[in-house]
Amino acid sequence: MALRVILEKGDKTLEKHCRPVTEVTDRIRILLDDMRDTLLNSGGVGLAAPQVGVLRRVVLVMDTNQEDKTPAEQIIELINPEILETEGEQEGPEGCLSVPGIFGVVKRPMRVKVRAMNREGESFEIWGEGLTARAFCHEIDHLDGVLFLEHSSRILTDEELEALSEKD
Ligand code: NI
Repeated sequence: MALRVILEKGDKTLEKHCRPVTEVTDRIRILLDDMRDTLLNSGGVGLAAPQVGVLRRVVLVMDTNQEDKTPAEQIIELINPEILETEGEQEGPEGCLSVPGIFGVVKRPMRVKVRAMNREGESFEIWGEGLTARAFCHEIDHLDGVLFLEHSSRILTDEELEALSEKD
């Protein structure tokens, strides 16, 4: 396992469409392992393969609703994720490891159902709620070269950012 470098906005890789994974090989499992390390090290709640320079449809999302689990146990690995259903709406601050220091107000569904493949190549479906639903949408957007800034109605001011960090 190893940490990978997280690309930042301005890097063209972040604007590209990612190819589906046709077969879950050891190479994909190594990518997942490295992404796990990189995500846990970053303090973020999600990471998409293009953020570490790999143009494949692979993302990680932390299910922070599972409070009894360790951060490593909260990670959901999603290969070729697709949004099947959404319910409700939430509006709130959103950031990205590839856009450090900037948070924007983004409207997302409150609940999101995703179908994906796991590292064994098996298909599964999962609902995410709240921050997890937001992260599903955000990370899947990355696979089509979309950053949260495109959905953001406005960027938070320094004062709002400060108030937000004091809340944590
Ligand atoms: Ni992001």
